Amino acid sequence: MSYFIGIDSSTTATKALVMDEHGAVIAIGRSEYDFETPRPLWSEQSPDLWWDATVVAIKEAVAAAGIDGADVAGVGLTGQMHGLVLLDDGGAVLRPSILWNDQRTQAECDEIRDRVGPENLIAVTGNDALTGFTAPKILWVRNNEPEVFSQVAHVLLPKDYVRFCLTGEYTVDRAGGSGTILFDLASRTWSDEVAAALDIPSEWLPPTFEGPDVTGVVTEAAAALTGLSAGTPVMAGGGDQAANGVGVGAVTPGVVAMSVGTSGVVFAAADHPIVEPAGRLHAFCHSVPGMWHLMGVMLSAAGSYKWFKDTFAPDLSYDDLNDAAAAAPAGSEGLVFLPYLTGERTPHPDPLARGAFVGLTVRHGLGHMARAVMEGVAFGLRDSVELMAAEMELGEVRVSGGGASSDLWLRIIADVIGLPVRVVGTAESAAHGAAILAATGAGVFDSVAEACDVAVELGEITEPGSDTAVYNALYPVYRDLYPALRDSFHRLSALDV
Ligand code: XUL
Repeated sequence: MSYFIGIDSSTTATKALVMDEHGAVIAIGRSEYDFETPRPLWSEQSPDLWWDATVVAIKEAVAAAGIDGADVAGVGLTGQMHGLVLLDDGGAVLRPSILWNDQRTQAECDEIRDRVGPENLIAVTGNDALTGFTAPKILWVRNNEPEVFSQVAHVLLPKDYVRFCLTGEYTVDRAGGSGTILFDLASRTWSDEVAAALDIPSEWLPPTFEGPDVTGVVTEAAAALTGLSAGTPVMAGGGDQAANGVGVGAVTPGVVAMSVGTSGVVFAAADHPIVEPAGRLHAFCHSVPGMWHLMGVMLSAAGSYKWFKDTFAPDLSYDDLNDAAAAAPAGSEGLVFLPYLTGERTPHPDPLARGAFVGLTVRHGLGHMARAVMEGVAFGLRDSVELMAAEMELGEVRVSGGGASSDLWLRIIADVIGLPVRVVGTAESAAHGAAILAATGAGVFDSVAEACDVAVELGEITEPGSDTAVYNALYPVYRDLYPALRDSFHRLSALDV
């Protein structure tokens, strides 16, 4: 029996998942860390955290699986997207990574639209310039830290820094690469035109590979640290959303992967590049060779519910809080929550957007507020589903992430979006996707789609129910609130209070 490891370097932990050659998940190792917010809107992390955690997580997973490092036939990588890792010509890290949820680059996004042309930017890269993406972060370092900028020799993404530590190679996978907005979406690699318009030297941008491609092998030094064998192939993998798409089997046109984690994501696979004309959805390469995907990203999904519980019900368990939410009626007696606690991306690309409870009365208690948070997140997911449904036909919705463990939240999501939703068997679906890509690259399966047919375990379907009418009535109210409050959010951010 041979085994494959998928490594997911997320914002809060690195997970290593051991999968056997039949696609079954055998064991998961995990090592956690924090990220820093040194200033308002900033979000940073030291790349060393990912590598140290990778070593711990691999050892833990291999031990828990009861196998030997030498039994591992391939490693696939995934992780948080868009983060900027800058290395000098010796491969040393030049500054902490600026992460996907960092919002400091509004001025650089404007600069990119000016330099490339707003319509041309969307036509070439498939995307508008958003603060979370990588290219504006490179410009921010040039504009604010010239001494760092002058030493840059290599640009990598978080997962690809882990790859560099494992293999010594400078390489980027194509799903992650397209999230830099330095890619030509249709030709699936760096756009010389965009790099030139932004004065980013093309020699900083490493070779790109499809998800199952072998990008290098584990070095002697990395083998000594991790217990893997030197020479074990390391496959490209993909950004966490593309790998999650593989982990839930969203690898054929129209199948939707919905992730209700810290962020909330609606992702649909496509067999040709599809671009939302105003750039309100992200259009990236899939980690499946020759496929693309459309994606909407909310910045605070299960993150909103965690904030609510930590702040207002720290002594309750999630089960108790969920019970209180279930006892409140659908629509929370007219209480609406806006989930923009860390700004928003889709459909309102606004770092200064804020959260809100609108419609409070003396009748509202903790349960109503908890339910309103779940409903507000579901309305935000519906925003992305509606934008996507205008561009392509959507099929089954497969849900993963912490939010998928609540039956109530699944029912609310099905009722709000009006589509059946289905959970998948593996909680760590991005790491599972990375392992599936590695096994495909090793030749265990003929294609990623065939691997998914074997490896992805599908759970129960939740059909939309009788509360759909309530939510259809409430959704237009939700949709009108951001435009009505936008000016207030911006004035609040400008106040020095
Ligand atoms: C996707 C995105 C997030 C991060 C979270 O565009 O920014 O999903 O990848 O890890």
